[in-house]
Amino acid sequence: MQRSISLSGRLLITAQFVKGGGTLADVGTDHAYLPVWLIQQEIVDKAIACDIREKPLNNARETVKRFNLEDRISLRLSDGLDAVSADEADEIVFAGMGGTLISDIIRRTPWLKNKDKHLVIQPQTRVEELRCTLSDGGYEILGEKAVFEGKRVYVAMHAVYSGINHFRPPSFAYIGRLSDNLDDSAIQHLKKQAKVITMKIKGCRNSGDEQGVGQLSKILEDINEVIYG
Ligand SMILES: C[S@@+](CC[C@H](N)C(=O)[O-])C[C@H]1O[C@@H](n2cnc3c(N)ncnc32)[C@H](O)[C@@H]1O
Repeated sequence: MQRSISLSGRLLITAQFVKGGGTLADVGTDHAYLPVWLIQQEIVDKAIACDIREKPLNNARETVKRFNLEDRISLRLSDGLDAVSADEADEIVFAGMGGTLISDIIRRTPWLKNKDKHLVIQPQTRVEELRCTLSDGGYEILGEKAVFEGKRVYVAMHAVYSGINHFRPPSFAYIGRLSDNLDDSAIQHLKKQAKVITMKIKGCRNSGDEQGVGQLSKILEDINEVIYG
């Protein structure tokens, strides 16, 4: 039996947002590396490792067995949190899935709208869409972190429901709370966002959409203000 597991940088920044102490649901768990690591580090007591497909869930089963954690991690075939009830999980992790999919799952799981449920999220794509889903749904993003892994920069964040819809400028979708933690990885991510906006501005200019040019230019200005001060 292998003694302990190590996490990639992407999963490590995700794990760092887990408060611990209770039961964690890991949505889209695949190999269940994250819940196994969190239990080995004694950060969480128990976990529910969920996946929509049998094959990844079997991967999870193998990992859980290899580390002898059958009594601490239960495995569940579940579309999002459909097979998990509100009283079963204190913290919910969504890692390695697209921002659109994570947004859909959050929107259709009303029991997440509870200040006692802590959400830890690491979207692979569409981070701006996810930030809008959280803000519009009354969730407060508490913090964010970026990390380089290979040639990519990944972002992780944590959030909780507050029921308050704070005013956020449109640039918040692109910047989020990364400005609170402005390291090299965060700056690289923001530079990539600036490039995307620049391309969009070009598109609007070519199609004569002056209103779009104005709105996007303001977003670009805000991103550049964070990057370059
Ligand atoms: C790329 S893996 C991520 C694994 C792990 N969470 C990580 O970050 O390394 C994405 C997993 O999400 C699962 N998945 C996709 N849609 C899902 C859904 N609606 N509900 C639960 N799991 C889903 C896939 O089957 C796959 O195993």
